[in-house]
Amino acid sequence: MKVLVAAKCGFCPGVRNAISMAEETLQRSGAGQSVYCLGPIIHNKDEVERLRTSGLHTVDSVDEMDSGTVLIRSHGVAPSELNRLKEQGFHIVDATCVLVKRLQQIVKQLEAEGYEVVIIGEENHPEVQGVVGCVGDVVVVAGEDDLGKLPRNGRLGIVCQTTQSPEHLGAMLDAIARRSFSELKVINTLCKEAIKRQESAIELCQQVDVMFVLGGLHSANTRRLADLCKKHNKATFHLQNWEELDKKTLFGKTVAGVTAGASTPNWVIEEFVEHLERFGQER
Ligand code: F3S
Repeated sequence: MKVLVAAKCGFCPGVRNAISMAEETLQRSGAGQSVYCLGPIIHNKDEVERLRTSGLHTVDSVDEMDSGTVLIRSHGVAPSELNRLKEQGFHIVDATCVLVKRLQQIVKQLEAEGYEVVIIGEENHPEVQGVVGCVGDVVVVAGEDDLGKLPRNGRLGIVCQTTQSPEHLGAMLDAIARRSFSELKVINTLCKEAIKRQESAIELCQQVDVMFVLGGLHSANTRRLADLCKKHNKATFHLQNWEELDKKTLFGKTVAGVTAGASTPNWVIEEFVEHLERFGQER
């Protein structure tokens, strides 16, 4: 079996930076000093487990931490949450991605200019929750079904969750433009790294019999990548690692494609490709 790997896949610079900040922090902190991360550092259980064995405690709420260092993951947090952690005496290591910080600044600026802030994205995603916490009033719209939530005849300042696809953003903006508003100001806050991964996955889908998208099941950017791939190649499977592969999906296939979300470590991709190549030779 021939295995092709997408030209752009796996860790993005924001995630790579967060992981290396976590590793440095763990190395620097002495015995007995706790290092916490509020929520999984990335949506990848294998990498979270690897860092857990090095001492990174993943917690769901501030109440689960007593004292020590808190790592802010690349998704960022709301300013109120950051202040609360500082007031409680935690040492903060802020690994918020620069593009998420930019998005947070933009919504503050839009609010200061009197726009009603609209975010195209997933309401429950940590990045969106952090951005929502930067402004007083904000409307989050995931799809066209949510457009009824938009204020009528308002001045809308529109931004987008960084990892949404350009196609979805375009479709949403077209649908919004068909409604009546006194002013629309759109700022493109999409991440180029996420777009490059989507483009190279689509390209690869067209050259293979079967396509594997590797990454956490809770990773929004990986799920989006898998949805896009399914549109271009019906034989697309979203898996977390090699153990999850149902070998039957390989029957009758001669060329397999592999891509991975921005939160999938290289070692997971390499391991998967190695197994796939070996399996192909043994058949
Ligand atoms: Fe940042 Fe883009 Fe990654 S927003 S965390 S570089 S996918």
